[in-house]
Amino acid sequence: ASPLIVAPSILAADFAHLADEVHAVEGAADWLHVDVMDNHFVPNLTIGLPVVESLRKATTIPFDCHLMIEAPDRWAVGYAEAGSYNVTFHAEAAADPVGLARDLRAAGSKAGLAIDRDTPVEPYLELLPHFDTLLIMTIKAGFGGQKFIPQLLDKVRAARRHVASGQLELRIEVDGGIADDTIAAAAEAGADAFVAGTAVYGAADPAEAVRRLRARATS
Ligand code: DX5
Ligand code: ZN
Repeated sequence: ASPLIVAPSILAADFAHLADEVHAVEGAADWLHVDVMDNHFVPNLTIGLPVVESLRKATTIPFDCHLMIEAPDRWAVGYAEAGSYNVTFHAEAAADPVGLARDLRAAGSKAGLAIDRDTPVEPYLELLPHFDTLLIMTIKAGFGGQKFIPQLLDKVRAARRHVASGQLELRIEVDGGIADDTIAAAAEAGADAFVAGTAVYGAADPAEAVRRLRARATS
């Protein structure tokens, strides 16, 4: 496993040419971040299972599905069955997060727990042994292109301390406003997986943008 994960978010890609956009980061990126929004959990609507199923056949890059949806207990396992590497659902939306994590793992994917901007991380630390990834939003979930909120890195620090003290096998992922000028602070706070939409797909050369982000996270 690579020490650091860089996951371009296709939310910032051209949805009319999704396969081409994914091919543009293959080889440079570790995971492909797929933002699923249902216009209920967040006030925005993106893509769902049919697109994930089709895109899965067009690339070998591991999918990191980020479900910003209500009732993930009902829908998340479908994304695991569609061949996703990791499926992350929101703590604020899940009725039974531990049960759902177990179901995701049984369906063959890793399980991720996401914490939105206004949700404290402390109540969820005790659930982390059931998860493979903890996604800490560094913006309010719902839209790409927002400004990184550095104060939210306090949650990353708290989670990293907890992971280290409990010797947990868990990735800490940050999502929102990750770019050349913010990724080093997130890495220093203890994140080891980085989602970037605008910083990758807003760049003239998306693969080069991924390599540059990785270099800045490492330095
Ligand atoms: C927003 C999504 C993010 C989004 C990040 O709710 O979860 O993954 O794509 O976009 P940038 O990198 O532009 O902030
Ligand atoms: Zn996301």
